[in-house]
Amino acid sequence: MNSQRNARGCPNLRDYGLRSRKLVACAAVVLGFGVTGPASAEDAKTIAATVCVACHSTDGNSVIPMFPKIAGLQEEYIVKQLRDFMSGRRKSDVMAPVVAQLKPEDVAPLAAYFSAQARTPSAPEDKKAVSLGKLIFYDGNEESGLPACVGCHQPLGVGHTIYPRIGGQHAQYVVQQLKNFAAGDRANDANRFMRVTAKRLSEEEMHAVAQYLVGLDAK
Ligand code: HEC
Ligand code: HEC
Repeated sequence: MNSQRNARGCPNLRDYGLRSRKLVACAAVVLGFGVTGPASAEDAKTIAATVCVACHSTDGNSVIPMFPKIAGLQEEYIVKQLRDFMSGRRKSDVMAPVVAQLKPEDVAPLAAYFSAQARTPSAPEDKKAVSLGKLIFYDGNEESGLPACVGCHQPLGVGHTIYPRIGGQHAQYVVQQLKNFAAGDRANDANRFMRVTAKRLSEEEMHAVAQYLVGLDAK
């Protein structure tokens, strides 16, 4: 009898020790957590609650305006951002040491986990700016050739595939990213979509659209 395999075809844990994630996944199956996925989904939740929590909160609804809410971001967008932080294509002194701790196989379950969390909006601080922000979001600005944000980010800023959810995002973070794109400090956008767009926004328009976005509730 092969003592190194148990009834489910997993390597015998006593023989191999609990060193690799594959073994942990097998252990989860044996312990009855199910056959596919749950082990790595559990891993993602643990990483969220121990690492990401410090800045993004466990459910991804950061309460610190300079740290983005990552709850409800598109799954493929999160995967792309984490890979871009890993490769240095998106530069961040804060996220670089974080992703250095992650294993490549952590990326997909973390993206699935945060993507599935509901985004909680915040209240705009400058309510007077909201109506201009809404105009920019839905109509753009013909004079400066600014495209309407809604064309890519969808009504209420819910996003779609490569276009991230921006509705309900912290205003401070949104303004910072728009400035980064305009200056070319953030340059990981496919087809230069955001670098071209952000250059056409005045400072007043950046502020206004961010004030509109922060309170959007897609629920
Ligand atoms: C010490 C604070 C900190 C921790 C811990 C942290 N992050 Fe971040 N994260 C940031 C900051 C700051 C940014 C924005 C970077 C920038 O300026 O472009 C960010 C950006 C992101 C983004 C891109 C968001 C967007 O809207 O484009 C994702 C995705 C992300 N973090 C995921 C994670 C995950 C997953 C973890 C846990 C493994 C984590 N972060 C841990 C601070 C942190
Ligand atoms: C032609 C399509 C397009 C248009 C129009 C557009 N965006 Fe974007 N936007 C994108 C894409 C694609 C990304 C993600 C880039 C990446 O992959 O990192 C993005 C990212 C962003 C981000 C960063 C989100 C985050 O979580 O870090 C902000 C903020 C943003 N857009 C705001 C706007 C605003 C405001 C407008 C309107 C003035 C606008 N966008 C118009 C395509 C577009």
